[in-house]
Amino acid sequence: MNASHRSGGEPPAPGEVQVWFAWLADLRSRQQALSKMLAPAELATAARFVREADRVRSIGARGLLRAVIASCLDAAPRDLDVVTGPFGKPELASAGRQMPSFSVSHSGELVVLAVAGPDADVGVDVEHRRALPDWTQLAARHFHPQEVAELLDLPPTLGHAAFFDCWTRKEAVAKACGRGLSLPLASFRVSIGTPHEARLLDATGLPVAAAPWALVPLMLADGYAAALAVTGLPPHRVSHAQFDTDDRRWQRVLRA
Ligand SMILES: CC(C)(COP(=O)(O)OP(=O)(O)OC[C@H]1O[C@@H](n2cnc3c(N)ncnc32)[C@H](O)[C@@H]1OP(=O)(O)O)[C@@H](O)C(=O)NCCC(=O)NCCS
Repeated sequence: MNASHRSGGEPPAPGEVQVWFAWLADLRSRQQALSKMLAPAELATAARFVREADRVRSIGARGLLRAVIASCLDAAPRDLDVVTGPFGKPELASAGRQMPSFSVSHSGELVVLAVAGPDADVGVDVEHRRALPDWTQLAARHFHPQEVAELLDLPPTLGHAAFFDCWTRKEAVAKACGRGLSLPLASFRVSIGTPHEARLLDATGLPVAAAPWALVPLMLADGYAAALAVTGLPPHRVSHAQFDTDDRRWQRVLRA
């Protein structure tokens, strides 16, 4: 094992999900080191973004992912073979090895990464709680009819907040399934109006409906909604860690 390749994280224990989050400002300050971890195709993808913030997010998210996963596998970040699944989900080419499950999300100034062991499928979603005048139309177009009814029953301010909670719960589920947009979001139902507790109430429309599911709201920062969905081994522990450029463990991996 080469200690310089470790991000400071340990591989998730059975039943553990690790949530890593990073602010764009911190990722920006380490762009050079993070971009050295990326494959040429990932650098080309980032270079296609017109806005500087989008380039920072793209390089930062992929660098964070590579650094954390590499630490789980005792590998160098740039040696990981990250491929794209049939519905756009980034995956690791396994070469016969059991690989950790992971999911990435970004919104506003935040990037979030969730990592679980090979016995689970994990999805994470974060959304900046921005003004969204047409949230009722978006809900009516995408959500389960019962979810829409419950959202419209809430006072408008609470409804707007609950919309973002619902959105992140549903996208986290869609990402854990690896299906993204191809999965009709109205085909399953999550709990509404319960910011600190989330449940999958109807999974019949999901490709992995029979699996045990866990939904966890994440309180990462003011002004952001986020949720974690896990299927397979139910998580008994969700750990949080922030990408911190002052942290000696991160400094080691960024110098590697
Ligand atoms: C994949 C998807 C879920 C991403 O959602 P998003 O909120 O736009 O973006 P996020 O930042 O949360 O997620 C993007 C990341 O998801 C991952 N991803 C892409 N396709 C994925 C898939 N099929 N399954 C799981 N993860 C996927 C990638 O890591 C991607 O980041 P990267 O391109 O930097 O590698 C999106 O393509 C999608 O299907 N969105 C649904 C949008 C929608 O209908 N919302 C309705 C709410 S009203």
